[in-house]
Amino acid sequence: MKCFLTVNELNEPCSAKSFLMAVMLAIGFFIAVPDARSESVDLSKTTQACLTCHDKEGEQKKLENGDLLPLHISTKAYTESMHKETDCEDCHSNIESKTHGKEKISIKSRRDYTLGMGESCRECHKKNFKAYADGLHAALVKEGSKADRKDAPLCSNCHNPHTVKSVKIIEPITATPCATCHEAIFNAYAKDVHGLERIAKGKTAPICSDCHQAHDNKAASMGNAIKDACLTCHKDAVKQHNDWLPNTDRHFEAISCPVCHAPTAQRRVNLRLYDNLAKHQVSEKLGVPQFELKADAADADKLGLDGRALQSLLREFNQPGTENRTILRGRLEVRSGVDAHQISEKSKAIKDCDTCHKTGAEAFQSVSLTIAGPDGRPIRHGVQKDVLSSLLATESIRGFYAIGSTRIKLLDVLLVLVVLGALAVPLGHMTVKRLFKGVRDKREAEERAAQVKASTQELTGNRRRDDDTPQ
Ligand code: HEC
Ligand code: HEC
Ligand code: HEC
Ligand code: HEC
Ligand code: HEC
Ligand code: HEC
Ligand code: HEC
Ligand code: HEC
Ligand code: HEC
Repeated sequence: MKCFLTVNELNEPCSAKSFLMAVMLAIGFFIAVPDARSESVDLSKTTQACLTCHDKEGEQKKLENGDLLPLHISTKAYTESMHKETDCEDCHSNIESKTHGKEKISIKSRRDYTLGMGESCRECHKKNFKAYADGLHAALVKEGSKADRKDAPLCSNCHNPHTVKSVKIIEPITATPCATCHEAIFNAYAKDVHGLERIAKGKTAPICSDCHQAHDNKAASMGNAIKDACLTCHKDAVKQHNDWLPNTDRHFEAISCPVCHAPTAQRRVNLRLYDNLAKHQVSEKLGVPQFELKADAADADKLGLDGRALQSLLREFNQPGTENRTILRGRLEVRSGVDAHQISEKSKAIKDCDTCHKTGAEAFQSVSLTIAGPDGRPIRHGVQKDVLSSLLATESIRGFYAIGSTRIKLLDVLLVLVVLGALAVPLGHMTVKRLFKGVRDKREAEERAAQVKASTQELTGNRRRDDDTPQ
C-alpha cells in the first residue's frame, strides 16, 4: 500500500508510517521548489502542475496483475526532451482533473496501459503513425499477445515520450530500442563488421533501423527492401561482384547477402509459394490457415514433403481456373536470425563456386516450403532434401528425364539450381532454355565456351527468363 501525496487526497487509508512519509515528501517538495522552477521555466502551467505531484522518484502504482507502473516523471529530463513544448494533457487527454490522484483508477496490466495510450501519438506524428500502422510490428500487435513470443512494440516501447531526444543525436548502439526484444540478434550484430564500424565511427555504418526500417518494417525475408538498403550504401556492389560472379543480378535475387557474407552461417533452401500472376509471394489470409492444413495433409507421416506430396500440394493451390498461377521460387537463405547478423569483412566471404555448384552442397541439405503468414513472416513446412533432384523425376517436368539421366555433373547441379530458381508447374520448355543459358554462362566464365555455345544457341533462340513468363 502506498500514499502518494497527502493522505487526504487519496481514498485509501494510510498507515501512520506512510503518513509520515507523505509529510516528509511534501517538505522535501517545498525545499526542492526553487530548483524545479528553474528547470521548468519552459513548461506550461498545466504541465508544471502535473509535475508537482509526479516528479517524485520511486513512486509507483500497483496494477491489477501485480505489475508496477512508475509514476515518476523527471522535470529535468522532460525539459530537455523534444516534447518540452508539448503539454502532458496533449497525450493524457483522458485525465479527469477533479478526481485524478484522489480516486484510484484500476488498470489491468502494464501492457494494457501501453495499449490504451497507443493512439496518443497519432495527431502530431501522422506520417510515422501511418508508416508504423502498415508495418509488421503493428500487425503483430493486432494479432495480440502470444505465449511463445514477446509482445510487439508500440510507439512508446521504442520512444519514451517523457524523455525523447532528437534522432540526430548519436547514441551508443546499446541504446537502440530493438536490443530489448531482439537480444540475441543485437549481440551478433554488435560484433559484426557493421556493429564494430558503428561503434568506431558512428552513423556511417547501419544500425537495425537502417536495414529494416524503424516504422514501416516488414518480415526480413519479404521482398527486396533489405537488399535495396545494402545497395544504397554499397553503390558499387553489383559492379564489384560482376568482376568475378557471372550474372550477379540473378545471384543477388536468389541468394540472401549473408549466405556468402556470414561464412560460418548454416544455410537452407527456401521454396516460396509465389503468385506468378500478381508477382508476389502467396500469403495466408488472417484466420484462414489453409497452408498448414494442406501441408499437414500432404505430409501424413511428418517426414517432410517428398516430391509427390509437394506436387499434390501445388495442385491444391492451382485449382481448375487458376492452373499454374502458384509456382515455387527458390531462395538461398541463412537458417537463423543470429546467422544473418554475422557479416564479416570481405576477405572471408564465400567466393568458391563449388560451395553451391556441386552435388550434395551443404547449402542444399536443408529445404523448406514457405508461405507468407498474415503478418508477412514465413510459415514453414519441412521438405525432404531429395526433392530438389526428385522433382526432376515428376510429371511436372516430363521430357527432362533425358537430361537427368545423362548424369553429367554440371548439368545435374545446374538443373537443381534451375528448379530452385523457378520451378513452374509444369516447368515447361522455358526451363530448358534457362538450363542451357546457365551452362553457357558458366562455360563462358571458365572460358571454355565454344562448343556448348553452338548447341545452346540453337535451343535458346528466343531467350526469355521463365520466371518472367506468364504461364
Ligand atoms: C495531486 C497530485 C497529482 C497531480 C496534480 C497529478 N497527478 Fe497523476 N497521479 C497522481 C496519483 C496519486 C496517481 C496514482 C493514482 C492511483 O494510484 O490510482 C497518479 C497517476 C497518474 C497516471 C497513471 C495512470 C493513472 O491514471 O492512474 C498518469 C498517466 C498521470 N497520473 C498523469 C498525470 C497528468 C498528465 C497530470 C497533469 C494533468 C497529473 N497526473 C497530475 C497524482 C497526481
Ligand atoms: C507525447 C505524449 C505524452 C506526453 C507529452 C506525456 N505523456 Fe505521459 N505517457 C505517454 C504514454 C504513451 C504513456 C504510456 C507509456 C507506457 O506504456 O509505458 C505515458 C505514461 C505516463 C505515466 C505512467 C507510466 C510511465 O510510463 O511513466 C505517467 C505518470 C505519465 N505518463 C505522466 C505524464 C506527465 C506528468 C506528463 C507531462 C509532464 C506526461 N506524462 C506527458 C505519453 C505522453
Ligand atoms: C520498433 C521501434 C520503434 C517503434 C515501434 C516506433 N519507432 Fe519511431 N523511431 C524508431 C527509431 C529507431 C527511429 C530513428 C531512426 C529512423 O528514423 O529511422 C525512430 C524515429 C522516429 C521519429 C523521428 C524521425 C522522423 O521520422 O521524424 C519520430 C517522430 C518517431 N520515430 C515517432 C514514432 C511514432 C509516432 C511511433 C508510433 C506510431 C513510432 N515512432 C514507433 C523506432 C521506433
Ligand atoms: C501534441 C503534439 C505531439 C504529440 C501528441 C506527440 N508528439 Fe512527438 N513531437 C512533437 C513535437 C513538437 C516534437 C519536436 C520535434 C518536431 O517538430 O518533430 C516531437 C518530437 C518527437 C520525436 C523526436 C523527433 C526527432 O526529430 O528526433 C519523437 C521520437 C516523438 N516525438 C515521438 C512521439 C511519440 C512516441 C508520441 C506518442 C507517445 C508523440 N511523439 C506524441 C509533438 C508531439
Ligand atoms: C546490414 C543490414 C542489417 C542490419 C544492420 C540489421 N539487420 Fe536484421 N537482417 C538483415 C538481413 C539481411 C536479414 C535476413 C533476411 C533474409 O532472410 O534474407 C535480417 C534478419 C532479421 C530478423 C529476422 C530473423 C529471423 O528469424 O528470420 C530480425 C528479427 C532482425 N533482422 C532484426 C534486427 C535487429 C534487431 C537489428 C539490430 C540489432 C538488425 N536486424 C540489424 C539485415 C540487417
Ligand atoms: C517490444 C519488443 C520489440 C521491440 C522493441 C522491437 N521488436 Fe521487432 N519484433 C518483436 C516481435 C515480438 C517480433 C515477432 C517475433 C520475433 O521475430 O521475435 C518482431 C519481429 C521483427 C522482425 C521480423 C522478423 C522476421 O521473422 O522476419 C523484424 C525485421 C524486426 N522485428 C525488427 C525490429 C527492429 C529493427 C526494431 C527496432 C527499431 C525492433 N524490431 C524492435 C518485438 C520487438
Ligand atoms: C555468391 C556469394 C556472394 C553473394 C550472394 C554476395 N556477395 Fe558480396 N562479396 C562476395 C565476395 C566473395 C566478396 C569479396 C570479393 C573480393 O574481395 O574480391 C564480396 C564483396 C562484397 C563487398 C565489398 C566490396 C569491395 O570490393 O569493397 C560488399 C560491400 C558486398 N560484397 C556486399 C554484398 C551485398 C550487399 C550482397 C547482397 C545484395 C552481396 N554482397 C552478395 C560474395 C558474395
Ligand atoms: C548505412 C549504410 C550501410 C548499409 C545499409 C549497409 N552497409 Fe555494409 N558497410 C557499411 C560501412 C560504412 C562499412 C564499413 C566500411 C567499409 O568497409 O566499406 C560496411 C562494410 C561492409 C562489408 C565489409 C566490406 C569490407 O571491405 O570488408 C560488407 C561485406 C558489407 N558491408 C555488406 C553489407 C550487406 C550485405 C548489407 C545489407 C544486408 C549492408 N552491408 C548494408 C555501410 C552500410
Ligand atoms: C552461395 C551459393 C552460390 C555460389 C557461391 C555461387 N552460386 Fe551460382 N548460383 C547459385 C544459385 C542459387 C543459382 C540459381 C539462381 C536462379 O536461377 O535462380 C545460381 C546460378 C548460377 C548460374 C546460372 C545463372 C542464370 O543465368 O540462370 C551460373 C552461370 C552460376 N550460378 C555460376 C556461378 C559461378 C561461376 C560462381 C563462382 C564464381 C557461382 N555461381 C557461385 C548459387 C551460388
